[in-house]
Amino acid sequence: MSILSSAALLTDCSGGGKTLPQLGSAPIDEVIAAMTEDEKVLLLLGCGQRDVNEPIAVVGATDDIIPGAAGTTHGVERLGIPPMVLADGPAGLRIKPQRDSSEKTFYCTAFPIASCLSSTWNKELVNQVGESMGQEVKEYGVDVILGPGVNIHRNPLCGRNYEYYSEDPVLAGKTAAAIISGIQKNDVGTSIKHFAANNQETFRTSTDSRVTPRALREIYLKPFEIALNEASPWTVMTSYNYLNGTYTSESKELSVDVLRGDFGFKGLVMTDWFAGLDAVAQVNAANDLLMPGIDRQYNQIKEGLKNGTLSQKQLDENVKRVLELILKTPRFKGYKYSDKPDLKAHAAITRQSAAEGMVLLTNKKNALPLSGGKKAAVFGVTSYEFVSGGTGSGDVNEEYTVSLMDGLKNAGFEIDNSLAEIYKVEIAKQKKIRDADPSRNNDFIYRFMPENFSISEQDLNNYAKTNDFAVLTIGRCSGEFKDRRIADFYLSDKEKELLNSVKKAFGKLGKKVVVILNIGGVIETKSWIDTPDAVLLAWMGGQEGGNAVADILTGKVNPSGKLPVTFAEDYFDYPSAKNFPYDYQENNKSMFGRGTERGNDENLDYTNYAEDIFVGYRYFSSFDKKVMFPFGFGLSYTEFKISDFKADYDGKDLVKLSVKVENTGKVAGKEVVQLYVSAPQTGLKKPIRELKDFGKTPLLQPGESKVLEFEIPLSSLCSFDENSSSWILEKGVYKFLAGNSSENILGTQDVDIQTDFSKKCSDVLKVKQEFEILGK
Ligand code: BGC
Repeated sequence: MSILSSAALLTDCSGGGKTLPQLGSAPIDEVIAAMTEDEKVLLLLGCGQRDVNEPIAVVGATDDIIPGAAGTTHGVERLGIPPMVLADGPAGLRIKPQRDSSEKTFYCTAFPIASCLSSTWNKELVNQVGESMGQEVKEYGVDVILGPGVNIHRNPLCGRNYEYYSEDPVLAGKTAAAIISGIQKNDVGTSIKHFAANNQETFRTSTDSRVTPRALREIYLKPFEIALNEASPWTVMTSYNYLNGTYTSESKELSVDVLRGDFGFKGLVMTDWFAGLDAVAQVNAANDLLMPGIDRQYNQIKEGLKNGTLSQKQLDENVKRVLELILKTPRFKGYKYSDKPDLKAHAAITRQSAAEGMVLLTNKKNALPLSGGKKAAVFGVTSYEFVSGGTGSGDVNEEYTVSLMDGLKNAGFEIDNSLAEIYKVEIAKQKKIRDADPSRNNDFIYRFMPENFSISEQDLNNYAKTNDFAVLTIGRCSGEFKDRRIADFYLSDKEKELLNSVKKAFGKLGKKVVVILNIGGVIETKSWIDTPDAVLLAWMGGQEGGNAVADILTGKVNPSGKLPVTFAEDYFDYPSAKNFPYDYQENNKSMFGRGTERGNDENLDYTNYAEDIFVGYRYFSSFDKKVMFPFGFGLSYTEFKISDFKADYDGKDLVKLSVKVENTGKVAGKEVVQLYVSAPQTGLKKPIRELKDFGKTPLLQPGESKVLEFEIPLSSLCSFDENSSSWILEKGVYKFLAGNSSENILGTQDVDIQTDFSKKCSDVLKVKQEFEILGK
């Protein structure tokens, strides 16, 4: 039976409703008892997609309710079970903006990408972004949004890093908690994803992530654990990859022992779309909902029930969790959505959060904020075609994107129109070539247009003469399905040529050149960073990106973003570069590989996470490796003094800390204090310092100060001991460090902890094939 025909059968089935138990009024177990086997099986499967070869759910049964949503579940009318609607994603709701049946539009807000939101280090602000995002989910009739994504930025080339928060699990986990609780304030659900160790797109459905239990617990599972504790997302989505030999969606160890056991998660677990191969194993691994739902899964489950590999009890348990989720949804409660979220208010919060997530990397002789003339020469294709977000399921269908050129105009600058005209013509040429090749659709290459032409020296000299300053955007786009190519990490020859020649022309006249980085992941900066007068990392700031950059350039907003990732000197400085398939990205089928239904590539089937716990700054600071910009770094237009750092240990389970931040400069600003800990190096080898919490001041006027407070439970000071499979607290002196980057520590407090503390965990997820591990 095909899923689609069975879906129709379900909705046709009335069965004399009156005497039957109804979801919501009858006890859930009675409803389950009244369900047929087919109804149960179909409840565990999404309604499917009409075109299963289409990797992204743009068409399908799901279109019947909310067009463009990623999936829908089956309803069972006779038992009062409505369907529910699931839609992407991390930067805002992703649905179709136009419908054949309606004149109206259904645009959603493109919020800043996750890496930009985490760069705010501002939990309250991220919470507000979540509230706005959740309102769109609710008002457009969606029940669960498929985000946030908390996979760790293990390697800068991962195509989906833009959807994820950080190289650090605490920053990722706490930022995720803030957005989840904001979204769920609207009584709609979230799906924290992709559980777990899904850190590359290349062969993502077939690669085995080989990770030690310690690195898993301390780095890759940690953001999930933090967010689950702090914000209780309604659902968790497992990932595509294998983890130590088993598909995550088929792993009982992962979803039963760790997630439901150790982490105490009570909600629903769903698979990623088309993930895994064995539906019975998935159901047995308490992956309650298999998405988007395909015939093979239906047949496998039916067969499993017949041959006893799947029990009725397990089936009923999973069905119960699906029903428990449905009970919470707006659709079950009969919420009348308006299709009119407050897009105007959300645009304002987008602009604010984008500006607050932008990181000022250099600012020679206070080049910024701009002062003096208003005439701007705007260079770089992406100044005109600003990239608001990445591609794939993390994309949003927004109504507009404010380019940098428009943002500058809106802020009262006069743009050099003759230069703008040249870009307009060149961009039109590129678009024509691009649009003639439909295979490039749905690919980040489609969205991104490289610099591919030169401007003569004479013209540049003229632009320098007639304008007051130059702004040059260096852009990148990235997205789902592919990792970035290694060339993408470095500036192209054309980009270097443009930067050098613009600097030459403007520099000779004493005019400033400001570089804007409109990117979703780290790029190389060492070779060129000293050329311009200032460099602003603008990330992909969502639909208001251009306005947000202008806010920083004019000084309307004082930058307070800090890096959520390390900018290394070179790609090969990242320890994961030794074990990342950076040379495979040219392959168009790069997300599919061996063992899947869609590909058969024998070349790559595992990735050793050999750097182990030394990810990001944990590596660079512990191994004393020079970087360009450390984790947590970001400049301001003002100065801050961080003082009066105090620690108070209650002798039991809590260390309380406080620190004073004073604005000692001339303009108002916000500062982030990052709280790191250096644990005693007695038993287990540990990173030299690790982030434990962070806080951000409100806007402080010059001379104003604020005391930030932190509470650190002993449990968060533990390391994971693989021998005993437990979190252990080694006794000794813990150095608490207050800083404004991982390399700029401004206060230290020693706390001697002699308390016994340990916490036993499931002894699971062992590495099957040994490999050499850094630091061992
Ligand atoms: C992605 C998920 C997404 C799902 C539904 C998958 O390709 O990995 O993150 O939520 O599609 O669109």
